[in-house]
Amino acid sequence: MTMLSIDAIDTYYGQSQALKNVSLEVNDGEVVTILGRNGAGKTTTLKSVIGFNEPRRGSITFKGEDITHKEPYERIQAGLGYVPEDREVWGKLTVEENLKIPADRGGNRTIEDIYAVFPKLEKLASNNAENLSGGEQQMLAIGRGMLGGTELLLLDEASEGLAPKIVDDVRRALHELKDELTILMVEQNVKLALDLADRCYILVNGEIVYDGAATELENSPEIIEQHISVD
Ligand SMILES: Nc1ncnc2c1ncn2[C@@H]1O[C@H](COP(=O)(O)OP(=O)(O)OP(=O)(O)O)[C@@H](O)[C@H]1O
Ligand SMILES: [Mg+2]
Repeated sequence: MTMLSIDAIDTYYGQSQALKNVSLEVNDGEVVTILGRNGAGKTTTLKSVIGFNEPRRGSITFKGEDITHKEPYERIQAGLGYVPEDREVWGKLTVEENLKIPADRGGNRTIEDIYAVFPKLEKLASNNAENLSGGEQQMLAIGRGMLGGTELLLLDEASEGLAPKIVDDVRRALHELKDELTILMVEQNVKLALDLADRCYILVNGEIVYDGAATELENSPEIIEQHISVD
């Protein structure tokens, strides 16, 4: 079953068109990744889905419902979770409070479930989020995004700016989550993305130029070289 369907969207910042005729699908239970160089339109795609930048043309359907013109909070109520590129944890609140706010909206998952995936967060439960390391803040942002009835998690550059060991922790956690969550993730770390994803799309200058199984792209270094690698 298709969970999310993006159908031919054009998204702009003022006069400047960031997405051109972008279409993609995420099926129930899949991990789908969007790859592409800086400025390709990856974040804009997620912002279009969560409602922070509505497309000017085209439509977005989530669980069979047209959400193209719904408010972000309505999309979150419908089961979308969002982990922004800059994490945006609430710095003056504790770790536990950061989790409690979405958890109180309902949903099957509990704060204990999040601590089971990220044991470190439990130890830091009463610390203010602003005092966490970058990796810990990322774990908190992911945990927060999963709570409150999330069925599809939108994950923007989970590995960005993290030390290799922390990227490994995040990779392990995402592997655990794969079984119970549908994920649309943006990544610059191609290896991490292809390791986790079932399918992938490549964006170049706001246009989808490739889509295929992750294993297929893994075996096509020339495509990675052409569209993603930075030399
Ligand atoms: N707030 C904004 N105002 C104007 N232009 C923007 C804004 N945000 C992004 N853009 C432009 O839209 C295009 C797509 O940006 P986007 O942030 O989606 O790229 P990205 O693929 O996420 O890049 P990165 O890998 O650097 O995060 C770029 O040309 C960018 O300069
Ligand atoms: Mg981005």
